[in-house]
Amino acid sequence: MKVLVINGPNLNLLGLREPHIYGKNTYKDLIEMIEADCREHGDEVSFFQSNHEGAIVDEIQAAYGVYDGIVINPAAYTHTSVAILDALKAIGLPTVEVHISDIRTREQFRHFSYVSMAAKKTIAGEGFDGYLHALRVLREEE
Ligand code: DQA
Repeated sequence: MKVLVINGPNLNLLGLREPHIYGKNTYKDLIEMIEADCREHGDEVSFFQSNHEGAIVDEIQAAYGVYDGIVINPAAYTHTSVAILDALKAIGLPTVEVHISDIRTREQFRHFSYVSMAAKKTIAGEGFDGYLHALRVLREEE
């Protein structure tokens, strides 16, 4: 499987950012963990992180015909972005949404996700392991 892992705004600051919520591990640690898992499973993985909504939309559009699936943590854009939802719907690739924290038990404004309307599954509150869970969903191992 060829998979694209997209991370939205402020996830480049993992480790520094609210460690009581997102943990002490860094974005680099996250990438290395996913790379190791994909290596083990013979999957090809690429990463994209951006703090800009339009850049994420461009990356999703460019994924059409290139990848077999997408793992996306849209971060704050989860709760605001019709554009990211529409891009995912437009290209129609199997997509799994991930949140490190449990958005369902945090502030009310985090309970709603536009992106979940285009996702096969939404995984929240499993920390970094949620990304590995998402890969298992795309591999249809669960
Ligand atoms: C997040 C949850 C979002 O509400 C928040 O804006 C983020 C990260 C998570 O991974 O838990 O930036 O997507």
